Parts: sequence; structure tokens; C-alpha cells
Amino acid sequence: MRGMEKKQVEDILKLASKFEKGGASNTLKGKILATLFFEPSTRTRFSFESAMKRLGGTCVGFSSIEGTSVKKGETLIDTVNIMSGYSDCIVIRHSKEGAAKLASEHSSVPIVNAGDGSHDHPTQTLLDLYTIKKSLKNFNGLRVGICGDLRYGRTGRPLSIALSNYDTEISFISPPQLSMDKSTVKYIRDNGTNVKEVLKIEDVIRELDVLYMTRIQRERFPTEEEYLKFSGHYIVNKELMNLAKKNMILMHPLPRVNEISVEVDSDPRAKYFEQSRNGVPTRMAVLYTAMKK
Ligand code: CP
Repeated sequence: MRGMEKKQVEDILKLASKFEKGGASNTLKGKILATLFFEPSTRTRFSFESAMKRLGGTCVGFSSIEGTSVKKGETLIDTVNIMSGYSDCIVIRHSKEGAAKLASEHSSVPIVNAGDGSHDHPTQTLLDLYTIKKSLKNFNGLRVGICGDLRYGRTGRPLSIALSNYDTEISFISPPQLSMDKSTVKYIRDNGTNVKEVLKIEDVIRELDVLYMTRIQRERFPTEEEYLKFSGHYIVNKELMNLAKKNMILMHPLPRVNEISVEVDSDPRAKYFEQSRNGVPTRMAVLYTAMKK
């Protein structure tokens, strides 16, 4: 997200809104999308595939390395080189930070980063922004709390970077061991954004317009013992929601484990299922932008 201009982001959000209203179907007829998922996914992979099909295109790809020649030792670079000969655009998810960037240097077709390790998940950020805009109309003036595993998670960092292009205030809520990296905090402060770092949701929830929960990233902890120290650290329940503004929105990139109690799902401020649905029009906009002539 650091490389994306505010105008590029806003153009994608506008296009997503047009696609959500039913505009421009079949514009990618004849195009092929390759989805290379080296890590598990439900929302990102299926919403990309759904987006491509809604635009009239087709998909090839894999959802794990089982059954591919990666199992025989083929490198990421060779895999991408080969798949770029079979497709018009590649969506890639990988456990290593920088994998999508590396892939883009060895591909003859556009590469879309669908998550690289703990680093970035830019299309998630775009659909997060789309959800915020749909619910609250404007980014300027918003107070946004981003809570949970900010160290290993790949959604809070790019969201805070994107929001720092607007007149926002961001509260990072995490235990010190899982805090946002100093480079990102400096980047968004240098961009003119007021940043708070707090330990508890209760410290800021009354003032927030958006509370963005994230999962403790079990798969990225060095040991299970380390993970268990933080699992269940933050849980949003009805009592906590009672402290929030009447028009605060509660978001989560999903999947959730226990960060939001199911009793909160029926609260009109709970936007996480709508947020995941917004992945389709937003990714339609990304694919259209990547493949249009
Ligand atoms: N939010 C998200 O990236 O979900 P998946 O891991 O299911 O794709």
C-alpha cells in the first residue's frame, strides 16, 4: 500500500461501486486469471474467482502446493514464469514477505498480491476502505482503532498506511509483544496522522468510529506456547459494544477465531460479513484495472 497513490485507490473504490451496482459485465471475456495460493484462503481466493467470472473471464490455479511441481522443488520464480505463459494476470498468496514483488519481476503479466507473509494484503485494504466508505461516507475525521496481532498480521499495517492519506486518527491496540512495527508508526506519523498506542480496547472504544479487529496469527508464531500466551487476549462482546458509539462500525478481515463473540453478529454495527462480500466488487475493480486494454 505504500506505493499506491490516493487517486489510484479512489479510482478503484469508484469502479468497485460501479461493479457492485451491476456495471460492465463480460469486460474480461476471453481473459484467464491464474490464482496461485501457496497458503490457505477462503475469502480471497473465492472472491477473486467470483470477481473474474462476473467479469466474463475464467480461472486456473491451485489452492495448495499439493499436486503442483512445487512439491518436486520448482522455485517460485520458475512457477510464476510458467504460469504467466498460461494466463493474463496472476493472483498470488505466499508465506514469504516480498513474494509477490519477486513474482512481479519474473512475470510477463500483472501480479496481484493476495497476501505475502506478515507484510501486506493490499486488496484486503481496498475492500476495507470500500466498506468504511459505504458505511461512513468519508475517511476524513475518522478515529480508527486497529486491534490484535499487529506484528504478524498483514491487514492492520496496510490499512493504517492507506488511512494516513486522510485526516484520520489511528489507535493501535495490542500487547507490547504484538505491537505495530516502528517503521510503520513513523511512516504514518510523518504522513500527518495522529497515532495512539494502547493496551486495551476499553481505553479508546468510546471515541472510535471504526474498530478493526484482527486474528492472533497462530501460523506465524515461532511456537504454539508463544501463540497460547496471546490467544483470547481481545474479545469483543455485547458488554464492550455497549461502550461504543451508536454509529461505530466493527470490522474484521476474517477468519475470526474468538476475537468477536457470535452474540455480536446481530448488532447492526457488525460489518464483517458485509465486508467480506465487498471483496467481490473490489476485486472486480482490481482485475479490471490490471487487465483492461
Ligand atoms: N481475509 C482473508 O484474507 O481471508 P482468507 O484468508 O480466507 O482469504
